[in-house]
Amino acid sequence: MIHLGPRDRWEHIIFQPTPEAIQSAADILRSGRMAAFPTETVYGLGADATNDDAVAAIFRAKGRPQTNPLIVHVPGAVEAAKLTRFDARAERAAQAFWPGALTLVLERRADCPIATRASAGLSTLAVRAPIHPIAQAVLRASELPLAAPSANLSGQVSPTTAQHVADSMDGSVDIILDGGPCTIGVESTVLALNGPVASVLRPGSITPEAIADALGEPVETLTTNHPIAANAPARSPGLLDSHYAPRAKLRLNATTVSKGEGLLAFGDTVPPGAVITRNLSARADLGEAAGSLYAALREIDRSGVPVIAVAPIPNTGIGVAINDRLNRAAAPRG
Ligand code: TXA
Ligand code: MG
Repeated sequence: MIHLGPRDRWEHIIFQPTPEAIQSAADILRSGRMAAFPTETVYGLGADATNDDAVAAIFRAKGRPQTNPLIVHVPGAVEAAKLTRFDARAERAAQAFWPGALTLVLERRADCPIATRASAGLSTLAVRAPIHPIAQAVLRASELPLAAPSANLSGQVSPTTAQHVADSMDGSVDIILDGGPCTIGVESTVLALNGPVASVLRPGSITPEAIADALGEPVETLTTNHPIAANAPARSPGLLDSHYAPRAKLRLNATTVSKGEGLLAFGDTVPPGAVITRNLSARADLGEAAGSLYAALREIDRSGVPVIAVAPIPNTGIGVAINDRLNRAAAPRG
């Protein structure tokens, strides 16, 4: 059967990251359009962060609430310091973790050229220098700060392959650079450095303990249960409850499987009876589990099961980020 559905169209916009393709992505970005590219965490949907129309197009394409600000990607600390009040504490964080999976929330400089829409009208801006060579190449070729949220529809599962991007961003992106599967697999740690106490707003692969070590000061973690977060959702709209959700309902901490359920397993004890099983890591490695989380959720979801039973995941290291995403995916949909 000849199939001329969207999938066929997508094959024409997924490109191997040749120098020519990277230059095309840079040209597309400079003309105010969107290009998707891999980072070490998840794929990003990039646009010129200084161009208000380009930033507006990101919000439209994702169906993202205007109140949820975007992360602006830069090659490194030098460029971040042109946008934000990059103080000594930010320098220490960047020294330790950049380029890498850490996003810093800082006060915008008075002369910050980033569209205010990107930071949802807040006085702060989230900045990150990714380490992925394709992301770095696009940043350098475009010579632009790039707003790049995860390249998925708002509230849905983040993409960790080029095909995931193609599957969800129907028609809105002009090029997708294919860098293979993302190595980390969950979004960056978001760290607010605009207040007196350094606060993790979203857990990721870089832990609060590692950050506290690097900064030489205590680091707090805000969750939706935290009184500050509960009372001040504007502080990090990313703390919105339901997020990262597949179509199926999630049943967390499952040690048995009920009839008709899919199973997201972890480790070598896999309860029988699931319609479809994906194991995040048979050897119970949390890093490997993070790397396979979103692809596994997408695959089980595609089978059409109404419920996904999810094995308990240890809540340490990057396991905290995995559990954070699973809890949000399981939260009542708003
Ligand atoms: O790993 C990542 O960070 C990926 C890749 C593509 O870099 N990007 C990503 O972007 O996850 P996004 O837009 O899906 O998530 C941005 C997060 C949200 O939780 C948002 O609320 C928070 O960062 N954020 C952005 N600007 C903020 C600000 N000024 N204050 C507080 N939180 C902010
Ligand atoms: Mg996202």
